[in-house]
This record gives sequence, structure tokens and C-alpha cells, in this order.
Amino acid sequence: MAQNNSNLVGEYMALWQEHGIEEIPSKKKSRTKRKRKPPQTQPQYKSLTDLQNELRDCRRCGLCKERNKIVFGSGNPKTKLLFVGEGPGANEDKTGLPFVGRAGDLLNKIIEAMALTRDEVYIANIVKCRPPSNRVPLPEEIEECLPFLKAQIELIKPQMIVALGLTAASTLTGEDATMGMLRGKFHNLVWNNSIPLMATYHPAYLLRNPAAKKVVWEDMKLVIKKMGPSKK
Ligand code: URA
Repeated sequence: MAQNNSNLVGEYMALWQEHGIEEIPSKKKSRTKRKRKPPQTQPQYKSLTDLQNELRDCRRCGLCKERNKIVFGSGNPKTKLLFVGEGPGANEDKTGLPFVGRAGDLLNKIIEAMALTRDEVYIANIVKCRPPSNRVPLPEEIEECLPFLKAQIELIKPQMIVALGLTAASTLTGEDATMGMLRGKFHNLVWNNSIPLMATYHPAYLLRNPAAKKVVWEDMKLVIKKMGPSKK
């Protein structure tokens, strides 16, 4: 039977070749090669100042309606240690600087306890504009703003990131878990596995729950140990 079939195919081939057809026509339509979309690459910025200029008068999400100042971030652009909070509060919205209210005072104390100063680290947020009534930023607001934090991280190239609070921790690690589950261990960033990230409680949470300060200090000790002697 197999012999008969191959004879038949041979005969058909000979017949087609007589008519100038070299290949057995296939039922499948030959696909014209479609150009693939180039991967979405992050715009390249030469410096944090370039990046900040790109954000000037940003209208990418609804947070622009009620904000006063965009809180880009501040600190040493060559630091090895980057802190990331959730988003500006009322004081930050007024001044344009991150963590300047009561939570900021507590963050300063945490930084000083690590034998560092604010000028030696960098502080940024997941969203750069204040969510009304200090609500948690919406997923679409985070999506619009995150490329700017990613670009900040690319430019600063920190050796270590500390995510302050669940919004920062879950956004940066992609983990859907409680802070109790996330804290106390190192994670990878969703898009880059070369910078270790420690998640810990947000200073605003510590103002309401001072007992958790001890736990945060345990986390910071792990950060200090992993970063080694020169933290600047
Ligand atoms: N809380 C944050 O998460 N970020 C700030 O900048 C201030 C308070």
C-alpha cells in the first residue's frame, strides 16, 4: 500500500513538473513574514535630572488633578542604598520632597541607626504624586508611574533596595503576600534579579504600631550585613 502511494506521488510530481510546478502545493497558505513589534524598551535617560525633566507637569494619570508638587525623589544619586515608599503625603506634596512628615522623621532615625545620613542614601516612591486623602495608589496609577522608578533604579544602580510598606514591597517583588510574610528576607525585583530587596514595615505603620520598630531594626541589620562595610 505504501509502495502504491509513493508511486502515485511520484507520478503527480512528474505531471506537475511538466507544468513547471516544482513543489507540492500545500493547503496551508504561505505566511508572509510579519514584522515583529520591537520589544518595549525603556527610554534611556542620561541622568536623574533628564528623567525629572521628563516628568515635569506630568498628566499621565488622574493623580495630577489634585497634586501640588511632583515628588521625584531625593538623595545621593550614586548611593548603594535606595529606599522606596508608597507615595507622597500632604507634607511631601507641599514641599516636593519625599518623607518629610512624621513618617519621614522616623525614616531619618532608621537611616541614622544604620550609621548613614539621608544625604548618603536615595529615597523615592512608587508613585510620584499624592493620592487624594492618602489612599493607596490604584493599579493604573502605579502602572503609569513605575517606569520612572525603574529608570531611577537603572540610573542609580543601587546595591540594595529597601521597600517600605506593602505597596512598595508587592509592586517591586510581584509577590501577593502580607508584610509579615515578605519582611525579613531578600527578594528580587520583578524585572531585575541582580539587586536584592528587603521588604519592611512602612514608617507610618511604625507610628501607629511602635512595637514593630524592633522587627524593622532586625530587617535593617540584615541589610547592613549583606551590604558589607562600605554602605555609601
Ligand atoms: N509615605 C510614603 O510612602 N512616601 C513619602 O514620601 C511620604 C510618606
